[in-house]
Amino acid sequence: METRIFHPDRDANTIEEAAAIIRSGGLLGIPTETVYGLGADALNEEAVAGIFRAKGRPQDNPLIIHVPSAAWLERYCVSVPDSAYALAERFWPGPLTMILPRRDNVPLRTTGGLETVGVRCPDNPVTRAIIEASGVPVAAPSGNTSGRPSPTTAAHMLEDMDGKIDAIVDGGPCQVGVESTIVDLTVTPPRLLRPGGLPLEALRDVLGQVAVDRAVTEKLGEGERPRAPGMKYRHYAPQAPVTVVTGHAGRSAAWIRDRLAPGDGVICFDEFAPLFAGHAVHRLGPMGDSSAQARHVFDALRTFDGTGVERIYAQCPDDAGLGLAVGNRLRKAAGFHTVNAEPPVVIGLTGPTGAGKTRALHALERLDGLILDCDALYHRMLRTDGALRADLTDAFGDVLTAEGVDRMKLGGLVFADPAAMDRLNRIIFTHIPRAVLAEIAAATAPIVGIDAINLFESGLDRLCCRTVGLLAPPEVRLRRIMARDGITEEYARLRIAAQKGDDYYREHCTDILVNDAASAAEFENKAYAFFCHMMEEIRNNKEESDHE
Ligand code: TXA
Ligand code: MG
Repeated sequence: METRIFHPDRDANTIEEAAAIIRSGGLLGIPTETVYGLGADALNEEAVAGIFRAKGRPQDNPLIIHVPSAAWLERYCVSVPDSAYALAERFWPGPLTMILPRRDNVPLRTTGGLETVGVRCPDNPVTRAIIEASGVPVAAPSGNTSGRPSPTTAAHMLEDMDGKIDAIVDGGPCQVGVESTIVDLTVTPPRLLRPGGLPLEALRDVLGQVAVDRAVTEKLGEGERPRAPGMKYRHYAPQAPVTVVTGHAGRSAAWIRDRLAPGDGVICFDEFAPLFAGHAVHRLGPMGDSSAQARHVFDALRTFDGTGVERIYAQCPDDAGLGLAVGNRLRKAAGFHTVNAEPPVVIGLTGPTGAGKTRALHALERLDGLILDCDALYHRMLRTDGALRADLTDAFGDVLTAEGVDRMKLGGLVFADPAAMDRLNRIIFTHIPRAVLAEIAAATAPIVGIDAINLFESGLDRLCCRTVGLLAPPEVRLRRIMARDGITEEYARLRIAAQKGDDYYREHCTDILVNDAASAAEFENKAYAFFCHMMEEIRNNKEESDHE
């Protein structure tokens, strides 16, 4: 089929001819303020099937229906809450889709089998006039082939749909550039399913509390079902793999520049484009202007295709305003492959044996923390670190082996001789912090947890923003050590007695975490909450000092 292009400013009959296409069950590209849509009569199952075919869209992914005003809500939805009218009053026509209970005249084929339907009133007068003239709601997903970036010009849409649909109405470039915000009003509190052209802050202004679906910020696990079925599919992805770099714009730009290889492309804020001269660069817009970034994000993702670029690095705005939607589209394009350019928050962990350090470390890992096990690091360095090995030979003579150090021999030299022990410690406490610093500098995780028994003696505490002492009641530790290491009570008591007492940790650490939980899993949750709270405090302090 030949795909016609209507120019509403030139072709006087656009509205009638376009409405006739919808009424006859055809497929029509429609301009909206967000992105171009692939429209058809939402009540006509055959026409709706055509949308799925043209896009190559999975059948279970529901379509949004487009209406000319809130007056049509009752025709296609039941139990419409007051909040829907309050939102429509304030934000329609505009980039907001509301999920409401479906009236049974809306076919299940349109709603992907769901008992709810997404409704939106687009802010484009020509498109609203076409819907009004056709007399039916228009189902319209974004007008791209499934998986590709959404089209924000008629030319983009033609790229994907030429020959597959009847016509495209060319309304010029879209003013918003990312799809509508989707809010589910069938649950309490209302839930943001997809961030989009209407900021979350504006929704909260009207609705009060709004929950944010996990699919907005995280990659879902295998088999997990998001509430907006479309959020589970790989999306917006250019052919080359994308890495999203978060953090302060200056730092993310420097991070990217340090790693850029020939053949790499960059999506960056306008201010930083000169840093990447000689590479394929697409600008998102000025770094403080998330509305401009929303207009450019799909164009940037789309136009790398066919250029031979092998990897794409993208700067990413923070979550304020439209930044949440821009960041979400970039992350989805990257399959949520994200790195953080900010220097990580370094947290030291120490405490006596048997207090539950492993579980506390798991909790830090759940916050995307990188754990540096200093004991393991030391043993690796004994094998591989030339400077450490040279110092040990200087001080103790022939104690090295290919696998590290001859422990018996070194032990024999230092255990009976406090001065020699002192010398050994001084060597270790010079080299370990050097290696830890290098690991911190190379880390892309937001948090680094330093796991060190000698956190203070080694001076590693000086690299930490907070130091946490993990304590547990002695009887609890006793039982745990006996079970874990299969030793007698007597021997376990000796081990505990040989360690530093709780007072030492209370005196030295900035924070104390007590493991008094009934089970290991319960303690891990307690530790998780503890570290979440700590990170919040650290962030707030940082914001304060950034503003000074
Ligand atoms: O801005 C927009 O919303 C554009 C323009 C054309 O209006 N349309 C659009 O449609 O982005 P589409 O199909 O690309 O994305 C619709 C999203 C999908 O993730 C879908 O799963 C979700 O909305 N959705 C639709 N109906 C739903 C429902 N009843 N419940 C939950 N999610 C729904
Ligand atoms: Mg889409």
